[in-house]
Amino acid sequence: MNEQQLQTLLEQMTLDEKAGQLIQLATPFLKGSSDGGQITGPMEGMGINEKVVENTGSVLGASGAKEIKNIQKVHLEQNRLGIPLLFMSDIVHGYKTIFPVPLAVGCSWDLDLAEKSAEAAAVEASVSGIHVTFAPMVDLSRDPRWGRVMESTGEDAYLNSEFARAFVRGFQGDFENDNQRVASCVKHFAAYGAAEGGRDYNTVDMSEWQLRENYLPAYKAALDEGCEMVMTAFNILNGVPSTGNKDLMRELLRKEWGFNGVLISDWGAVKELIPHGVAEDEKEAARKALEAGVDIEMMTECYINHVQNLVSEGILSESLVDEAVLRILKLKQKLGLFDNPYRGADEKLESELILSDNHRATARELAAKSAVLLKNDGALPLKKSQKAALIGPFAESHDILGPWSWLGSKEDTITLDRGIRSYAKDVQIAEGSGIDSGSSSQIQSALKAAHEADVIVLALGESSDMSGEAGSRTDIRLPESQLDLIQELKHLNKPIVTVLFNGRPLDLHGVIDESNAILEAWYPGTEGGQAVADLLYGTTAPSGKLAMSFPQSAGQIPVYYNHYNTGRPKNAPDAQERYVSQYLDSPNGPLFPFGYGLSYTTYSYSDVSLSSQVLKEGETLTISSKVKNTGDVAGEEVVQLYVKDLSGEVVRPVKELKRFERVYLKPGQEKEISFTIDESDLRYYHSNLEYLSDAGDFKVFIGCDSKANNSASFKLVK
Ligand code: NOJ
Repeated sequence: MNEQQLQTLLEQMTLDEKAGQLIQLATPFLKGSSDGGQITGPMEGMGINEKVVENTGSVLGASGAKEIKNIQKVHLEQNRLGIPLLFMSDIVHGYKTIFPVPLAVGCSWDLDLAEKSAEAAAVEASVSGIHVTFAPMVDLSRDPRWGRVMESTGEDAYLNSEFARAFVRGFQGDFENDNQRVASCVKHFAAYGAAEGGRDYNTVDMSEWQLRENYLPAYKAALDEGCEMVMTAFNILNGVPSTGNKDLMRELLRKEWGFNGVLISDWGAVKELIPHGVAEDEKEAARKALEAGVDIEMMTECYINHVQNLVSEGILSESLVDEAVLRILKLKQKLGLFDNPYRGADEKLESELILSDNHRATARELAAKSAVLLKNDGALPLKKSQKAALIGPFAESHDILGPWSWLGSKEDTITLDRGIRSYAKDVQIAEGSGIDSGSSSQIQSALKAAHEADVIVLALGESSDMSGEAGSRTDIRLPESQLDLIQELKHLNKPIVTVLFNGRPLDLHGVIDESNAILEAWYPGTEGGQAVADLLYGTTAPSGKLAMSFPQSAGQIPVYYNHYNTGRPKNAPDAQERYVSQYLDSPNGPLFPFGYGLSYTTYSYSDVSLSSQVLKEGETLTISSKVKNTGDVAGEEVVQLYVKDLSGEVVRPVKELKRFERVYLKPGQEKEISFTIDESDLRYYHSNLEYLSDAGDFKVFIGCDSKANNSASFKLVK
């Protein structure tokens, strides 16, 4: 169908049919679905009758070629104009082959591999009939109490933007011509990651300056990469819920950024305008969301029940409804659904491509690159000849896929004990403790297993429902029963290698001093147990670097690397002892900073050299350092470039990540790593929100993490 034909189709639609395109229903509402199709109590309560279902535009959460083809077939028989359904699902870090959670992927600093994982997810999803994924989630967050930090790639606007682009490339590819890719929906617009106190769905209040500096860039990057859709956020932003926020979506997203794709509400967020207290009733909620530019209402009924009246009473112009419907029809057309409503859905390809060796290999590589070695006094790597005791609630757990792995299965998951057994046959295993409760008999069996061993591998962490949506915590230490277990084992005076499975940076009190080595494995996915074992036994050297700081304690939150100086910085040469910006009972800095991660080898960096001491507008500056592997094993180092603007019109962060590169180095090998920047890399938002650079002095740093102090200076001349 061409543009003109879509317009003609729109003209044939009744207002009810148009409103139908604007609602998204979950699979059980749809006829032809295996578990539904009946109008039951709750649906009736929503005003959802058979006619509404027949007119529905899109479906949430369906999976499987057979099921989706059937729903589509039945729908097309009933829909008067034969408009196909759009199938959307949360394919966040894999369909059935589950990759590490996005926060872990952020720690890989490997954009190509991130793209490859998204492509694999798209292939599996599209042969299963899915057209759109609700990903990437790019909400910048500086608060590990918020359970959804595991869904984003961390605390930095630049790193998040680069990953946003990589994910969009991977999911979408050339989806208009390639049935094995999906359209992608960036979320949650906007600033959901800044929820007060880290409590999910909570208030967000920030200056527009801060919003533009740090929180908006990753959404924009996804859209610049061609991302088709945007999802609203649950939070209010500066007093107005995002889902009814005209300034945010009509003005900024649509007018300023020129986004003309489909904007969908988050689940129930249109109706939530009522409890937020900005709409009296469903009718007002519908009006506000439509006026703000929300095309699809996910899972509530404000549009479907009120669009008709809003238009007939002259409160809402029908052109606003038409505009939204047309955007949805266009997306259906781009996906080729008018020509082939079943698109990529194909049972045969499902059996060939899902969990293919290729996809599993990518999952294994990415899991290995995502894990971060936080501490090592030489206990790692393990030797096959060592007798290991594998202890802890994650020793044999399948719960290593993480939130948003609803299609991943237990049978397909390689657990840690399986991975370790591929290296060492003689392993004693004991649970030692449950996730958050333990018994003395569990501890006794753990002590027994540990007694005979040369080394204790302690697999600890959070169950996956302790993070993710609605997974906020105020105390981000490991649960007490696990801390008790480690204390008991400590008495044995044997080396303890702790492997952590969790979805957020943790407070490591009770773990850090007690462990000889700590490997942060996050939720590593389908191949997780194997990838972690590969790292523990040194087949692969750890190379992950933190995409989010680990605080000393929850009391320090937010703690992030690119903070501003105060007028009384603690480290100033003339700083007083007391009257400086500091805590009396904790360092200011995190336990582990952004960018940090150890390996089984070490690297040295030569002094930073510059192609010039002066950077002029229109020219480029090359910044280099020679990086050498000074250890005995090969490794991959993530070389990081940071910039500091010494004086600005508004305050500038103490450091800002500008470039990075993953480099493979054999023992003794040295490579010169060069980064090129220009004036545009030095722009920032001024107090009047203009995005400009200022002439003046800058410092650049090249190093292994955000603490790098290997620096050189240059001047920007304009
Ligand atoms: C709510 C979540 O906030 C969002 O990320 C997700 O895409 C939708 N539910 C649909 O499952």
